[in-house]
Amino acid sequence: MDSARRKLSFKRKGIISLLLLLVATSFVFVSVLTSSRWNQASEDALYKDATRSVEERVDDLLSQMTTDEKIGQMALVEKNSIFLKSDIARFGLGALLSGGGGGPDGNTQEDWLAMVSDFQDRAKSSRLGIPLLYGVDAVHGHSNVFGATIFPHQIGLGASGDVNLVRRIAVMTAEEMLATGTNWNFSPTADVVQDIRWGRTYETFGSNTQTVKDLTTAYVEGLQSRSIVGTVKHYLGSGAMQWGTSTNPNYQIDQGAITTNEAVLRSIHLPPFESAIDAGVGSVMVSHASWNGVELTTSHVWLTDILKGELGFQGFVVSDWYSVYEIPGGKYYGLVTAVNAGVDMIMLPFEYRLFTSHMRRAVERGDISTQRLDDAVRRILRVKFAAGLFDNETVLDTDISTFGSNEHKQVAREAVRKSLVLLKDEQKVLPISKATSSILVAGSAADNLGRQAGGWTIEWQGIDGNWIPGTTILQAIKDAVSLETNVEYRQAGDFPRETVFADLGIVVVGETPYAEGVGDNAHPELSAEDLQAIKNVQAISEKIVVIIVSGRPIDIGPDVDSWDAVIAAWLPGSEGGGVADVLFGDYPFTGTLPVAWPLNAFASSF
Ligand code: BGC
Ligand code: BGC
Repeated sequence: MDSARRKLSFKRKGIISLLLLLVATSFVFVSVLTSSRWNQASEDALYKDATRSVEERVDDLLSQMTTDEKIGQMALVEKNSIFLKSDIARFGLGALLSGGGGGPDGNTQEDWLAMVSDFQDRAKSSRLGIPLLYGVDAVHGHSNVFGATIFPHQIGLGASGDVNLVRRIAVMTAEEMLATGTNWNFSPTADVVQDIRWGRTYETFGSNTQTVKDLTTAYVEGLQSRSIVGTVKHYLGSGAMQWGTSTNPNYQIDQGAITTNEAVLRSIHLPPFESAIDAGVGSVMVSHASWNGVELTTSHVWLTDILKGELGFQGFVVSDWYSVYEIPGGKYYGLVTAVNAGVDMIMLPFEYRLFTSHMRRAVERGDISTQRLDDAVRRILRVKFAAGLFDNETVLDTDISTFGSNEHKQVAREAVRKSLVLLKDEQKVLPISKATSSILVAGSAADNLGRQAGGWTIEWQGIDGNWIPGTTILQAIKDAVSLETNVEYRQAGDFPRETVFADLGIVVVGETPYAEGVGDNAHPELSAEDLQAIKNVQAISEKIVVIIVSGRPIDIGPDVDSWDAVIAAWLPGSEGGGVADVLFGDYPFTGTLPVAWPLNAFASSF
């Protein structure tokens, strides 16, 4: 087995050597026997010494921890569920998170930094001063935070197929996260999507295993080169859930059942995870799905035998939102089963007091062994040390100038250019001349940053309309054309009667924002309003270009036959300028379909 698999890879990581490990283990053993473990850990404790190896430091710290302190490390709590801030130190909580839309009041970079720093200071005031992991879904830039650079969603990056670009985006996302004090990203999604009716299609790099693997790995490397802990999710086979099997009454496919056989899971779905582990990813998030009738959260085979055994994963396994408590059999049973299966950190995300008492009981009764407890905590601490959490004195000295910077926006714009896919242009209408004398623009997504950005932007479900800074596609068109060009816009394409017949119509259509199972859709298609807008503009334009802003392929046939050119723009994010760059020929189309898009036989493709 490749030895790289056994390591975590972070820029700040120390060199782990077996020799040091052995020496440290015996040293720790002796020091535990001779020291009083109840005193506040002294400043010269071995685990605080950054020159020691990660394993030495983990051993030292673990040996000083009480059972309660160990249990606390396994809890991942949603920050609004913290009852008293003093509970962070009292329960020795291991990690906090902001869910989609779970930011501080104000929601600026400064507000975030102040909030996370406060939580972090409280954690560090505990007896052993163990810092927190603070997790966010920075899935297309640090997209919960107002003013962050909003990159295209993963599906667009999958269309670009550009490994180097994805690595740079991950680095920039990491920098924007550091500017808010956060240190753990629940990203990238390593799922290989098979059914585009799934509302999480846009969170994936597509349906091609090799592309997903290459881009997932680059993304993990980019994040962790800046000390941000990456997460590959949702392990394993989430892209293969079956329509109509969701256990959530409001969903159709998300949180559903996977029936694919093991050979297919291994050949199609496992490689991106395997490669991320080789690259040293810090955490793996377990899917909320079931496989062959068994919740993956309870699967010892997939979590322990395969992930930690066969693949040699050294980081920690985190469960998904509340999924431990959705295991049939009650909360205590679910928790015990998940931990014994191999879950190391539990995204509760609410009731940490109940969790603590259940865990205490489980350890006392031997329902969870002390070996399993120690292994889980060891894995969490290993990631914390490897990412340098113990060695950053304060998050306040991080460089905040990169947050939402022009440099980052330029890369987001580059990503938009590279993600565009030309679906149709037989008459070679594109590129458009910047000197075209009259252009009519219409469509629901022409002047709408919320639709460009999609879900996981400010709010979990995204926000329709212009609520974030950025450049709409309409604005980008206006910025690109010559001074002589006349650009008119009406969303519905209902231009006044006296409107002169235009050289060109550009109609930007698409989906409204959604996230997770809320976006499960039996038949993604254009709205009646968008179709009407296209017809309206067609009637008064020489040529028509349709730009589709969507998280997945949507049914456009048979209307597509009468359109001159069609472009898939995916969910480009805040930098609409990238669309105009290609539309007007400053750059060529280079994107390729990350998932199949049957233009004429859409509905029959399921
Ligand atoms: C999603 C995860 C996400 C987590 C935290 C869950 O519902 O499935 O992808 O990371 O919530 O927001
Ligand atoms: C949170 C998301 C989470 C979802 C799970 C939402 O309230 O904001 O982060 O994924 O709940 O259902």
